[in-house]
Amino acid sequence: MKKYLVIGNPIEHSLSPKLHNYWIKLNNIDAIYEKEKLKVKDLEALVSRVRKKEISGVNITVPFKREIIKYIDKLSPEAEITQSVNTIHLEKDKIVGSNTDIKGFEIAIKDINFSIKGKKIFIIGAGGVVPSIIFALKKVNVSSITISNRTKEKAENLKNFFNDLIIINWGEVPDFDLIINATSLGLNNNDEIELSFPESVKGKFFYDVIYNPKETPFLKKGKKLGNHIENGRMMFIHQAAEAFKIWHGIEPKINKEVIGLVD
Ligand code: ATR
Repeated sequence: MKKYLVIGNPIEHSLSPKLHNYWIKLNNIDAIYEKEKLKVKDLEALVSRVRKKEISGVNITVPFKREIIKYIDKLSPEAEITQSVNTIHLEKDKIVGSNTDIKGFEIAIKDINFSIKGKKIFIIGAGGVVPSIIFALKKVNVSSITISNRTKEKAENLKNFFNDLIIINWGEVPDFDLIINATSLGLNNNDEIELSFPESVKGKFFYDVIYNPKETPFLKKGKKLGNHIENGRMMFIHQAAEAFKIWHGIEPKINKEVIGLVD
């Protein structure tokens, strides 16, 4: 039986096993997908388990998506550009690192019925998933991307990858069409984002990368002001589906039942 894993820290709340095991069963694959909480010092040993074929594939989540790169032999072009890996597997004795977050976000945003081409985007946060979001947004030719992060230096560092980003101070709100919460604020129900939006923020789009809870205080605020809202559930499902395709060569079904698994 093949073994797959998601690793991260924390990892308890990950729904990846639920999703992958559902697709594994549906496709009659002899495999199991589990989760493991690791520390940075465990990453090298983890990759050697993949090299020895004890594990057939690993999803990497917060906070190891960049740290894992030093143990990888070959990066996909998307992983290379974003310096972010969320999926690894062995290919002809080489450890390959891919980034399926980009495709996940790309498909999710395409499906929300809000054309973002030529739109002004405002991203809050500069953590692990943000380079992938920026990369996906750039593919659809948005008009501008503004970033605000509590630690401004981290937002400034993103300019090394994407030089036309606009960086503003934490707490400031620019004019925008789509705002994306890419911070971890909202994972805990009492987390508030201390941003005050002017009255003119109405009919815009509020997108949260977080999918659990379904409606973060950020989304609640957006909704109350009269904006469209969407959480990160479909992004999460699509990144998982892309990883599944890489490992098993099968396009997994995304239907109501699958979406329900992430409710
Ligand atoms: P990492 O920063 O290790 O990549 P992450 O979960 O991918 O981890 O990112 C967390 C994001 O949430 C960061 O943008 C972080 O801001 P800092 O860079 O200043 O740490 C943001 N974040 C977390 N807690 C926050 C808080 N209480 N207020 C504002 N931003 C917060």
